[in-house]
Amino acid sequence: MKPINRRQFVQAGAAVAAAAAVPARALGQAPTVMTPKSAKPIVICSANGNQYRNGGRETCVEKAFAMIASGADVLDAVIAGVNVNELDPLDMTVGYGALPNADGVLQLDSCCMHGPKKRAGGVSALEGVKTASLVARAVADRTDHHLMTGQGAQEFARRLGFEILPDLNTDASRKAWFEWKRRTDPLHYLTPEDRAIEVKKISLAIMREFGISPEHYYGTINCDGLNPKGEICGVTTTAGLAWKIPGRVGDSPILGAGLYVDNEVGAAGSTGRGEANLYNLTSCLIVEFMRRGMHPKDAGMEALKRIKANTIEKRLLTKAGNPNFQINFYILNAKGEYTSVSMYPSTYAICTENGAQTIPSEPLVPTQLEQEL
Ligand code: GLY
Repeated sequence: MKPINRRQFVQAGAAVAAAAAVPARALGQAPTVMTPKSAKPIVICSANGNQYRNGGRETCVEKAFAMIASGADVLDAVIAGVNVNELDPLDMTVGYGALPNADGVLQLDSCCMHGPKKRAGGVSALEGVKTASLVARAVADRTDHHLMTGQGAQEFARRLGFEILPDLNTDASRKAWFEWKRRTDPLHYLTPEDRAIEVKKISLAIMREFGISPEHYYGTINCDGLNPKGEICGVTTTAGLAWKIPGRVGDSPILGAGLYVDNEVGAAGSTGRGEANLYNLTSCLIVEFMRRGMHPKDAGMEALKRIKANTIEKRLLTKAGNPNFQINFYILNAKGEYTSVSMYPSTYAICTENGAQTIPSEPLVPTQLEQEL
């Protein structure tokens, strides 16, 4: 057979492609264009993800990005990242040494989602394990379930070999709790409504005294990552609302609230007032807005407007009529476009090939939350 030159090869290829495309067009469908999926890797996280190092060299986002860059599984990477915060007692909103519940007991919540594998797991009200995120991962990988809670979750962790500590408090978290007890115990004699208002005032005052911003009343770290193959995973982990009623569970372990990942669309995760997020299942809502073509920023802003519209009780509003709480979302789409939106001005962390940065989020209400309270 006579060899063909390059021009003939290209023409032949085009003819084959055109022929192959005819039946698809005949059926009224666009021909499928197969392109290799590729993306610029990124890690996006709440601001505490670029603040604590647990005595090591890397923050959460640095660790997660380095692992992604070296080819690690994206969920392994983001969980290794948040482990830095869970294990660092200086982050008093997450894991070991975080602010406990009203009985002085740390009850942790976490969930994670693996985009490409479509696996997810969560734990709530977990006691005694420093790294709730790893137990959430085990729920995803080792059970047929998506959420385990309380004693059952602890027993599950024990059987898998996790260390169960009798107490996750540090001297600092215990001291803050004693102070909270001392100031709030007399409030039992108030009406439930007055008590709730006073407890919040005292809680925020004690947080300020212990050097914790009132913005972190609801604590939490969320971290999401994208690798060059376009694989997206996320994790959220928290000790929840400071000095919460024992058994109170927020948004962090709930798929669709604390976190939602769809590998074809993107990821959204949250920190801040869990109740506002649970009521609107906002992380799922944001991913669904992006599925319909919205940019991460527009999807996030639309979701914050939904939260604001659904916040109508006076006890949850500032004098100006805005929600009296902070809530933040960290959003990433499959193209690698990202943002963070928040009810009030805040910051968030990213890590790319240019290194880690802490940058301002996009607020719905431009004034500072402290000014509104
Ligand atoms: N977002 C954490 C919580 O409300 O528990």
